[in-house]
Amino acid sequence: MKLKELESCLQQVDTFEEPKILLEQYPTSPHIAACMLYTIHSTFDDIEGKLVADLGCGCGVLSIGAAMLDAGLCVGFDIDEDALDIFRRNAEEFEICNVDLVQCDLCCLEAEAYAKKFDTVIMNPPFGTKHNQGMDMKFLRAALTMAQTAVYSLHKTSTREHIQKKAKDWGVKMEVIAELRYDLPASYKFHKKKSVSSYAASEHMFSISCNCRETLKLILIHFSKPFICYSHMQT
Ligand SMILES: C[S@@+](CC[C@H](N)C(=O)[O-])C[C@H]1O[C@@H](n2cnc3c(N)ncnc32)[C@H](O)[C@@H]1O
Repeated sequence: MKLKELESCLQQVDTFEEPKILLEQYPTSPHIAACMLYTIHSTFDDIEGKLVADLGCGCGVLSIGAAMLDAGLCVGFDIDEDALDIFRRNAEEFEICNVDLVQCDLCCLEAEAYAKKFDTVIMNPPFGTKHNQGMDMKFLRAALTMAQTAVYSLHKTSTREHIQKKAKDWGVKMEVIAELRYDLPASYKFHKKKSVSSYAASEHMFSISCNCRETLKLILIHFSKPFICYSHMQT
């Protein structure tokens, strides 16, 4: 499957109907998801025929993309039943069979039970900005326990140094393989403003933020135990 074809398929994946702010439910855009997965597949050969885990899978855009790139099996983990229902519907609509789901709180998951059970972990974790500081690191810790070969994860650029330090402490190799612009959906921005503003102010914010997106700068990081060559993301 070509990159453009993958992106166009992922544009048809349904996302969160009512995103839950505290769970940081913002979907990975089809463009970012396709570029990320295509690079993992074609540059690193970490998808085709592999057992892949998608932590915080949400409605499944990364899992479904991995399945389309012929993952042996992609298992999505998420805490939220509503998101997993949408994931199931998406998988049915695409007639995808090589995906599976686990509903769980990844903060309480006994990751050791899944130790090295997956070849590859992919994820767009919560960034830990909603009274859940450190959530991104908890996801990373679980991912590194579960993966035998590599972990690919999206993070805010501002956390790069912190993650570098942690990777050193944990004895894993970390490479930034891409820098990306990530536009938070307007709906998410609206909900965020509403939660901190008075009713009148939030209505006002809504009319503004409808057409305006908040942009985050993200990095895609590759963690691995063995050393591998540096490579650029394909777009
Ligand atoms: C940034 S969204 C990414 C969704 C999806 N992977 C995507 O790329 O579109 C983060 C996901 O993590 C899930 N999540 C948040 N806290 C969680 C927890 N403690 N355990 C498991 N999943 C969690 C949310 O429900 C949400 O689906």
